[in-house]
Amino acid sequence: MMTTLLRRTLLGAALLAPLVATAADKPLVMGFSQVGAESEWRSANTASVKAAARQAGITLKFADAQQKQENQVKAIRTFIAQKVDVIAFSPVVESGWDTVLKEARAARIPVILTDRAVNVSDPSLYVSFIGSDFVEEGRKAGRWLLERAAKTPGASLNIVELQGTVGSAPAIDRKKGFEEVIKANPKLQVIRSQSGEFTRAKGKEVMEAFLKAKDKKIDVLYAHNDDMAIGAIQAIEEAGLKPGKDITIISIDGVKGAFQAMLAGKLNVTIECNPLLGPQLMELARKVVAGQPVEKRITVIEGVFPAEVAAKELPNRKY
Ligand code: AHR
Repeated sequence: MMTTLLRRTLLGAALLAPLVATAADKPLVMGFSQVGAESEWRSANTASVKAAARQAGITLKFADAQQKQENQVKAIRTFIAQKVDVIAFSPVVESGWDTVLKEARAARIPVILTDRAVNVSDPSLYVSFIGSDFVEEGRKAGRWLLERAAKTPGASLNIVELQGTVGSAPAIDRKKGFEEVIKANPKLQVIRSQSGEFTRAKGKEVMEAFLKAKDKKIDVLYAHNDDMAIGAIQAIEEAGLKPGKDITIISIDGVKGAFQAMLAGKLNVTIECNPLLGPQLMELARKVVAGQPVEKRITVIEGVFPAEVAAKELPNRKY
């Protein structure tokens, strides 16, 4: 026989049920501030975030910052005013985020970093960071070159470097990781290093300037992304040289364009940086909004693809 207390409890639960269901069913709203559309990598990342939000039933407010920090700050402030449930962003540069992140915290909106890290006074200003280990990507590039150089012991190699956006986490970290490894061989020297802003156009322009200098022979190009390498390949060809042969080319991302360049014999190796972060980001956002514990740093597992495996790997590439 049902006691009065049990009957009251069941009745209470039944009355509360529609309210609980409504709150849980309310679609989660995410404000996402993207760096821009500077590279093949970035386009794949944007597509991944948008598709994953759709699939997860998350309402996405998407803002493209066109590679400008001030646009990202504005977008984050707009998301705060709109009272979104969670803010995610891929910071253009590492520094200068304290104020706006404090505003998000004051509004009790959790912040997730994707792809790139920030340099803040208080790491609790963001809940979690999901993205690649850029220092390790730089190390992988350096290790590939060390092994290659070991085949011609004693030979000096002059390296030119196309850096990513000045002040961005991938530019800082990829430079650091590469230098850390190549210093094991004093015959490997970076003779020039300049930003190509992660774009094909700028990569080409800076490579043209490197080639015009003519004071030292260029043996190796290390580009912080595939797009700059592809731009530089054009500059090298226009200068009458053979990319991938006269100049060894190492780049980062692993986009389809890089695989096609490897198949054409114009690029020697690409280090993978996975842009397909959307599904993991949506899962993370749900946990964060539900107040579940999440890891502070979530890294992505990535590989190295030398030209020798390009034909076999190209059909498997998803971006
Ligand atoms: O932050 C990831 C980097 O940004 C990618 O390597 C580059 O292609 C992009 O623009």
